Amino acid sequence: MKNYGRYVKGEVEILNQEKVVILDFGGQHTQLIARRIRELNVYCEILPFSASLEQIKALNPQALIFSGGAKSVYEENAPLVDQNVYQIGLPILGISYGMQLMAKDLGGIVCMAENPEYGQAALSIHDRQDLFAGLENEITVWMNHREYVKQAPPGFSAAASTANAPVAAMVNATQKYYAVQFHPEAVHTPDGTEILKNFLFKVAKLTGDWTMESFIDATVKQIRETVGENEQVVCGLSGGVDSSVAAVLVHKAIGDRLTCIFVDHGLLRKDEAAQVMDTFSRLFKMKVIKVDAADEFLAKLAGVTDPEEKRKIIGNQFIRVFEREAAKIGKIDYLVQGTVYTDIIESGTATAAMIKSHHNVGGLPDDLQFKLIEPLKYLFKDEVRRVGEELNLPADLVWRHPFPGPGLAIRILGEVTPEKLDILRAADVIMVEEIKKAELYREIWQAFCVLPNIRSVGVMGNKRTYAYTIALRAITSHDGMTADWYRFPYELLARISNRIVNEVPHVNRVVYDITSKPPSTIEWE
Ligand code: XMP
Repeated sequence: MKNYGRYVKGEVEILNQEKVVILDFGGQHTQLIARRIRELNVYCEILPFSASLEQIKALNPQALIFSGGAKSVYEENAPLVDQNVYQIGLPILGISYGMQLMAKDLGGIVCMAENPEYGQAALSIHDRQDLFAGLENEITVWMNHREYVKQAPPGFSAAASTANAPVAAMVNATQKYYAVQFHPEAVHTPDGTEILKNFLFKVAKLTGDWTMESFIDATVKQIRETVGENEQVVCGLSGGVDSSVAAVLVHKAIGDRLTCIFVDHGLLRKDEAAQVMDTFSRLFKMKVIKVDAADEFLAKLAGVTDPEEKRKIIGNQFIRVFEREAAKIGKIDYLVQGTVYTDIIESGTATAAMIKSHHNVGGLPDDLQFKLIEPLKYLFKDEVRRVGEELNLPADLVWRHPFPGPGLAIRILGEVTPEKLDILRAADVIMVEEIKKAELYREIWQAFCVLPNIRSVGVMGNKRTYAYTIALRAITSHDGMTADWYRFPYELLARISNRIVNEVPHVNRVVYDITSKPPSTIEWE
């Protein structure tokens, strides 16, 4: 359970930061657009299409982007934009649905295509100024549309076309309105980055001064100005990259006024607790209180098999332990949380039914009397990692795969016992070791072992065995929301399997999970 938006002081710097606002019309690629813009060192934020003019203006952007979307502009309930955005004199780039909307709003004609375009198409460029400056006459672009702009609005000209779209891009250079039917953010549009660059730097005249270094300087300054001389700040460390980077950033700003609490719930991976202490206490010389609470957690989990019940128990126990330790520190004014941008976007737009009670472990109840410091709340995961590198956090920590708050408890199907934890830890360490040796660790979003509650028959040294199965799970993903299973080289799978059955007692079988998300989930529970 995370708290959003209560820490507002830190946003002052971001308000002063050169910025693009992306209005989200529900397209699959909105986050990708944001990432591409930020890769070009321009800070941007996503707002829902329904944002009012005041909300947009409050962010003080220098340009707007209208994202793609799945609906038709003429459909009932089609996402529309506050018409006043056309009056504020900002450059606008419309993408796909965003282009159709701009065309409709400004007096052009949008029609259902006889020949919808999906996939790569050849784009002929007629106007190679501004948006298409420096490109060839014909480029390859990624199309994905049923409707198309038949006639550009008054004041616009068709800057490019494809065989099926006479106005595949339109331009009103006077107003600085630009729109493309294709997706410049997609990798399948090889010149897409050039087009975005042209919009940002040639049209909107941005400077591109958003770097992780400037982010760190501004954030440290902000935290220093916010936290008073006599105020105390607490951070719950989990060993994951988000809370680690947040803690180091806050420590850089206020030193020993920050106390970190690290609850070892006994459900961590092998040597993880020791690594956390080594990094923060020894290397960074931060005040860290380690709480060995494994016995308490395991006692509460005894006999529990239901996944959601496990999560609830661990979540509640975590809060109890954290509060107990925090009370020892005395009055606490601020709590640091490692909330990242995708947490906020997802909480703002999610309508999906609850599938798992995610992200509630390590969170704290709403009625606590702390103010929040969430220094990473506008960063994507890859940016958090870059900040971590900039702050000289060990590479192992910066690149560590995400790990769920309830830890190994949701990777042991059925009851969690010390014996099963030992088995899972021993197998997991082998898998990760082999992946790192093969230099594939960074390509993979998460890789881990699962201990299903299955025992099967095997034969080892002429003896029949009846032992556990270990399932390997490895996936690629951008954000954990969707995922595909990782295509390991067979040889590597063989090595992992051999080592696990040879080195881990009570395991005689290894299987590989080859399901994507959806329909599966990343974790097994
Ligand atoms: P699923 O299993 O839903 O997981 O595909 C998506 C991402 O969330 C992580 N995860 C959790 N993280 N508490 C957490 O803090 C949880 O209860 C939890 N369950 C899943 C999972 O590791 C993946 O990164």
